[in-house]
Amino acid sequence: MRISADTLTEEDANYLLTATIAPRPIAWISSASTRGEVNLAPFSAFAPICNRPPTIVFSAGKKPNGMRKDTVLNVLSSKEFVINFLEEPLLHKMAQTTEDLLSQGNEIRLVGLTPIQSHFVATPRIAECRVSMECRLSSHFEIGTTDIVFGEVLCVWIDSDILGSDGRPNLDKGYAPVGALAVDYYVPCTKQAVRKVVVGKT
Ligand SMILES: Cc1cc2nc3c(=O)[nH]c(=O)nc-3n(C[C@H](O)[C@H](O)[C@H](O)COP(=O)(O)O)c2cc1C
Repeated sequence: MRISADTLTEEDANYLLTATIAPRPIAWISSASTRGEVNLAPFSAFAPICNRPPTIVFSAGKKPNGMRKDTVLNVLSSKEFVINFLEEPLLHKMAQTTEDLLSQGNEIRLVGLTPIQSHFVATPRIAECRVSMECRLSSHFEIGTTDIVFGEVLCVWIDSDILGSDGRPNLDKGYAPVGALAVDYYVPCTKQAVRKVVVGKT
């Protein structure tokens, strides 16, 4: 069956792309307004795109009222943000942060998580996330209804409990990032679920 893009509503297109480009990594992006209010929202449309300088990109659609998402407004004004990676025990809290929380203060605290001071940026990271990346805005543009944001990774925080002897995050140490499938379906990348494929061996 061929599905032509011009027959799709924006919502249909979102469903089709996210149900087929799956699993996608999920992370909370923490960002701060000029008044110091800390915002938290999950994103799954992001990717590593350059190693030198280490750079990631994420994309944010507009709110239903056509306005920019708070994350994007904050990043464009502060020029910085933090990506905080999720593991399975945090999935329920993640679901609470998809709505506008109307926080006047710190949405990290509002959902029962712990903000901790970052090193290079003023935006806090999340203590409960075992991997976080402090980022500086490097570029931004729009495609259609969507904001595309590029960030240079200034540093990566990794809980030493999940580092192998080579100093790299290791599934044997219990690191289990979660992937997003369609709508509200998720897949934890546990060691049991992961297959190693070595060329030449079956
Ligand atoms: C697992 C998951 C992944 C999401 N990924 C994205 C995404 O990549 N881009 C996007 O615009 N919204 C995404 N959303 C929706 C945003 O989290 C939601 O619109 C949020 O309210 C934005 O908050 P903000 O206005 O505070 O930035 C995702 C939601 C969930 C639950």
